[in-house]
Amino acid sequence: MKKQLLTTLAMCALAATAMAEDAPARWTLNAAKPEKGITVQPTMYGIFFEDINFGADGGLYAEMVENRSFEFPQALMGWNTFGNVTVNTANPAFKNNPHYVTLKDPGHRDKRTGLENHGFFGMGVKKGMVYNFSVEARLADKGAKAGKIRVELINKDNDIVAKSRLDIISTEWKKHTVTITSPITAKDAFMRVYLESKDGVDLDHISLFPSDAWKGAIRTDMLQALKDLQPGVFRFPGGCIVEGTDLASRYQWKNTVGKVEERPLNENRWNYTFPHRLYPNYYQTGGLGFYEYFLISEHIGATPLPILNVGMACQYQNKGNEAKANVPLEELDPYIQDALDLIEFANGTTDTKWGRLREEMGHPEPFNLQFLGIGNEQWDEAYPQRLEPFIKAIKAKYPKMNIIGSSGPDPSGERFDYGWKRMRDLNVELVDEHYYRDENWFRDNIKRYDKYPRKGPKVFAGEYACHTKKVEGKEPTRQNNFLSALHEAAFMTGMERNADVVHMTAYAPLFAHVDGWQWRPDLIWVDNLETVLTPNYYVQQLYSTNPGTNVLPLTAGKLPVAGEDGLYASATYDKRTKEYILKIANLNDAARDVAIEVKGLKNIGAQTVTTLRSDNPKAINTIAKKDAVKPVTTTVAAQTGNILKLSVPARSFAVYKFGK
Ligand code: AHR
Repeated sequence: MKKQLLTTLAMCALAATAMAEDAPARWTLNAAKPEKGITVQPTMYGIFFEDINFGADGGLYAEMVENRSFEFPQALMGWNTFGNVTVNTANPAFKNNPHYVTLKDPGHRDKRTGLENHGFFGMGVKKGMVYNFSVEARLADKGAKAGKIRVELINKDNDIVAKSRLDIISTEWKKHTVTITSPITAKDAFMRVYLESKDGVDLDHISLFPSDAWKGAIRTDMLQALKDLQPGVFRFPGGCIVEGTDLASRYQWKNTVGKVEERPLNENRWNYTFPHRLYPNYYQTGGLGFYEYFLISEHIGATPLPILNVGMACQYQNKGNEAKANVPLEELDPYIQDALDLIEFANGTTDTKWGRLREEMGHPEPFNLQFLGIGNEQWDEAYPQRLEPFIKAIKAKYPKMNIIGSSGPDPSGERFDYGWKRMRDLNVELVDEHYYRDENWFRDNIKRYDKYPRKGPKVFAGEYACHTKKVEGKEPTRQNNFLSALHEAAFMTGMERNADVVHMTAYAPLFAHVDGWQWRPDLIWVDNLETVLTPNYYVQQLYSTNPGTNVLPLTAGKLPVAGEDGLYASATYDKRTKEYILKIANLNDAARDVAIEVKGLKNIGAQTVTTLRSDNPKAINTIAKKDAVKPVTTTVAAQTGNILKLSVPARSFAVYKFGK
């Protein structure tokens, strides 16, 4: 009898659970005064660029030649030479990059002289595309009259597929250019430069760009992927590279403006950070420098957000070495001057020193810089001590400049609390938070910003990504899988709901080369010809292209919708288009019905629904299968009445737009 009762109770409990799951979730969307809702900042959904994973050199910067200036520590790194090739520095073409090569007769009729460059993991060439070759050259010897070089494009089987010739007739350095059209499409072509004359030549800054490069310098497909995000803010140039492994290798913006040939080389700390993924050939040419970053910001419609070194080299890499890694306070002035000069470079009139340089580079109009980050992932008192004089000097000259400070590398804990407290004391406008965490963290932190103080500095979630653990097993880990994207989508509803506190966000890192990555996951993967958009990219894009202008309260009972029953949601209104935008992430393995009373609206009207979903949490997009996970948009016929009835698909992120 007792056993029977227990069974009956158990069955009742099961039935109740089943009923609860079947019953639609009932929510209320308060749309009575939509324009009064808290403002979503135009900067809300942004991007973070760093030269990591060959994101700049070998990536967005379309230069195809590696070590074009022969300034790598071994001058011929990246080059194969044959015959009579030497490296020299006498009477150089460029004072900041003095090394060049001399190609001379090999001394025998049947020998040859030349050099080859395989670019970054090969050179990607497209059939019919014109490539612009350029070289700074002169005759090597005083009495010489006629130098000639041949430039060849070669496929992986060593067949010459295209060639052009250049005459060098002066003993003075001069830029020479020629074009080559590729008759093939290949990811792994290479270039040979070959001496054809008896007379020898000196060559420097040997360069090859596709003719479709934006502004002659930027890879178009990668740029388009950024533009398609319509990002609100563009943070550059990093990350850890801002700090440098030591102060000498920190990012110095002044080295990245002006004539590209004179921009000095800097090592890239990501060449040696991870011993299991070493890339000893990873250097920063500065070809993609601050001027180009500002141009890109303008082109993609994003507010520029440069980050500058605060006078501290990377703290991770300098534990116990602080005396060398931190600039003494009394020697901080040049660093502060760099910040002031950067503002002048971006915003100054053309009769100022740095404003004039901007004009000379082709942009007399100011770039309208409004935000400046000082320091990347800094912690301990050494940071606020250094930040304070920056703030004083910047505010004294540019009182409206918004300063972004750091809360360190962790999203919680002692260092984080200390960082936030000190940033409040210093009254910075925004605080940069970073979180690379697993799926549990993203779920557990959905209400993170509900509890933040409403006064004081705002949040810039300047680097974040979900690093999934559970679904992956041992290897490979940290994939850009659908599960990670879905958790980010869910978490972002909490950011959006708290748009009064969270003013800027950016997934990180942005780019990775499939053959040269050090860190994953990353938002966009590329090889030498193609771009792959990850599920995470699509999540970012669904937010950044549907931000709305005002947040609307979305509640279940009295509480905000925030993960009950595996559903995460936020709602906004767009006063420009007069649309209501609802974003829902369903983390359940089953579809969920939701009935939403939209207060203040008579009829829901027609809807568009854009859904990102997959049955496979491990699904990823690859070069071979780019569209494994991709959003799909459908329209739903007009609905009368103000109850929006939805069936949110299992494991999905969906954006509903209605009320237009
Ligand atoms: O995004 C990769 C790195 O992660 C950044 O350079 C750094 O800021 C963080 O530690």
